Amino acid sequence: PVLVVDFGAQYAQLIARRVREANVYSEIVPHSITADEVKAKDPAAIVLSGGPSSVYEQGAPALDGGILELGVPVLGICYGFQAMATALGGEVAQTGQREYGATDVTVTGTDSVLLGAQPESQVTWMSHGDSVAKAPEGFEVLASSASTPVAAFASDERKLYGVQWHPEVKHSVHGQAVLENFLHRAAGLPGDWNSANVIEEQVARIKEQVGSARVIAGLSGGVDSAVAAALVHEAVGDQLTCVFVDHGLLRADERKQVEEDYVASTGVRLVTVDAEQQFLDALAGVSDPEQKRKIIGREFIRTFEAAAEALVLEAQASDSEGQVKFLVQGTLYPDVVESGGGSGTANIKSHHNVGGLPEDMTFELVEPLRTLFKDEVRAVGRELGLPEVIVGRQPFPGPGLGIRIVGEVTKDRLELLRAADKIAREELTAAGLDEEIWQCPVVLLADVRSVGVQGDGRTYGHPIVLRPVSSEDAMTADWTRLPYDTLAKISNRITNEVPDVNRVVLDVTSKPPGTIEWE
Ligand code: XMP
Repeated sequence: PVLVVDFGAQYAQLIARRVREANVYSEIVPHSITADEVKAKDPAAIVLSGGPSSVYEQGAPALDGGILELGVPVLGICYGFQAMATALGGEVAQTGQREYGATDVTVTGTDSVLLGAQPESQVTWMSHGDSVAKAPEGFEVLASSASTPVAAFASDERKLYGVQWHPEVKHSVHGQAVLENFLHRAAGLPGDWNSANVIEEQVARIKEQVGSARVIAGLSGGVDSAVAAALVHEAVGDQLTCVFVDHGLLRADERKQVEEDYVASTGVRLVTVDAEQQFLDALAGVSDPEQKRKIIGREFIRTFEAAAEALVLEAQASDSEGQVKFLVQGTLYPDVVESGGGSGTANIKSHHNVGGLPEDMTFELVEPLRTLFKDEVRAVGRELGLPEVIVGRQPFPGPGLGIRIVGEVTKDRLELLRAADKIAREELTAAGLDEEIWQCPVVLLADVRSVGVQGDGRTYGHPIVLRPVSSEDAMTADWTRLPYDTLAKISNRITNEVPDVNRVVLDVTSKPPGTIEWE
């Protein structure tokens, strides 16, 4: 793999993704990694990420200089570039001249391996205080900016490279080309990693892990569980049984998409548990968001457990079949990185993941998506021939519409919200906005009423909130500037077609401060 050494800013995951976009497999490792540990991983190349700190700061993350002596090609980015300069005997100065944001760079090394075929003058994304004042001995300076004499350097002989700017950020206009030059030209990597290889590799792994035992998977209707289960099915066929809990908090058509479209395209064995009434009963009278989340999580696990237990008993009764030993989880790479990352983050909301492992269940986990980012999961799903309604689906929270009704959750209110949500989704898709929008929660303010007028009469109905957001990873988000015509159409249709709704409002809050969901 290509190792991305994480110096602690949020850039490492982005770098890892961009490397993979160049069709080269990458993994993230902490900056505390030693040269020996790096060597043991036998990397094809190494990228040192940016970081928040100055190399002069007390406790600034250090680089094990031995990593630069392994003969493995290294690209240092921003802080990684400066850490490299320091380790190799160059000079980093605290100039007090901060460069932040879009910055003009002059490339002198237009015939170099790293910046070859690039324009002499280009816009890059910078974020740094200190600057490299002198390149290490034997290094060629490839670029400079107004306040940074050494903005990029290289030693082809030692295969060591560095740039002060962030090539992984889209605002660096030729950034991806810098990464690709490093990977393909400097490190000589072919760029042959793609979703077909991923499938082949995972199928082999799953076969080996599972053997002839039986496996169960929880389907939520979302992308991750659907792709994870499809991979397992590809590997072990009918040793897999999928369990789909319909908690009654799904959006319009979602059950049908799983029961019909997904099953038709994969051929998986599916058990649906109809638990709407059970969830409605448990949620009756509750309007506190955290309490709703806890109840939904608890009921979900109970229901899933009961279904799993029934399958285990069924397997035991028929001695021709293997024991149920495995549970599929759609864990993604960011979860793996973040839970290994150490530093705790505040529990803003208690997230509940459909298919979450009950504590006292003794299944072994099968996690075929552990090395993948979301967009890669989608690519794998498409390669496996899954329906676009599932593969292209926007994120939808485990607790479903339950946390999009501000107030008590009832069957009537769910129906009303489902109708409004369906209209919004239809119109956003019709307007070709699905790519631009990360997700668009539609929220019912069930405890609010306002006065309206329709026909000749006064109405006293509920508002519906549209919350379209653009985001890369849901950690931060901005509200999407939707065209007025689309908003008008959605508003018209919802107020006309959904009884008891007489007002549609638009949420124009970014995250932070507002979370994406309302509860
Ligand atoms: P917030 O509202 O915290 O949401 O900005 C960030 C992303 O997470 C989704 N979300 C959830 N996903 N279980 C999930 O699987 C949950 O309990 C949950 N709550 C929020 C939300 O839709 C957004 O994509």
